[in-house]
Amino acid sequence: MIKKILRKSSLPALAFVLCMTVFASAAYAAGAKVPPPQQHWPHKGVMGTYDLAALQRGYQVYREACASCHSIRLLSYRNLQDIGFTEDEVRAIASDYFVMDGPNDEGDMFERVAVPSDRFVSPFENDAQARYANNGALPLDLSLIVKARYGGEDYIYALLTGYAEPPEDVEIPDGMYWNRYYSGHQIAMAPPLMDGQIAYSSGRSASVEEAARDVTQFLAWASEPHLQQRKQIGVKVLFFLLVFAVLAYAAKRRIWADVH
Ligand code: HEC
Repeated sequence: MIKKILRKSSLPALAFVLCMTVFASAAYAAGAKVPPPQQHWPHKGVMGTYDLAALQRGYQVYREACASCHSIRLLSYRNLQDIGFTEDEVRAIASDYFVMDGPNDEGDMFERVAVPSDRFVSPFENDAQARYANNGALPLDLSLIVKARYGGEDYIYALLTGYAEPPEDVEIPDGMYWNRYYSGHQIAMAPPLMDGQIAYSSGRSASVEEAARDVTQFLAWASEPHLQQRKQIGVKVLFFLLVFAVLAYAAKRRIWADVH
């Protein structure tokens, strides 16, 4: 009896699974997602460390090309000291922004100049305002974006450099842009970088690729500021375990030496 039910119900189920598999792979083949090419990043690998000069340039790119739309709410200005800005530079950076504080003794909120301990000031007061300014699309907070996307740094770099004219048979609606690496290829973010748009303090202006590489590293640091400490502790722990293993082995040999 049970066998009969199983046999009867398994056929449509099998057909359903088959259909879905064919459908899903067809959607993939249609190019919904293109894997980003792999890049070399200095902070990757067991001993990799952040390139501080790149992070500082990346902050400049973020500030000049992204901060008008994207917040990084989880960073405070004083965190910038970790990538090599001095205390005075950080104070100067923070003082360009205003934050709401309060309530004061009279119970009123008031605006004041930001200080290093304040979080990065967001360009919009809330998501609704951000969407309203961007044709309904939400420019996400970038604090954890490198961790939040499959492909991490490679994807962010590919996205920023992946804008192109759409293929001939593809019609792009107004306010949308064709990007090779964005899922579905239509993104509501206009190409945020242009060659020569960012002038680095060395006097050189950055190409799209350079700016993308630097800002990607900055965003990687933002999503994991303690990466270096984590790796250093890892190396120390491995070293300790190695020494401990040698000691344990020597002790074992001595203790069992008389047992034949
Ligand atoms: C004029 C506003 C604007 C600027 C400037 C801007 N973005 Fe965006 N960004 C958006 C919007 C809007 C979206 C959402 C796109 C969508 O939903 O189609 C977005 C989405 C993104 C995404 C998410 C993509 C995904 O996979 O979901 C990343 C990453 C990103 N932007 C990075 C940046 C970086 C880095 C810069 C600076 C170099 C930048 N953006 C500058 C408006 C902007």
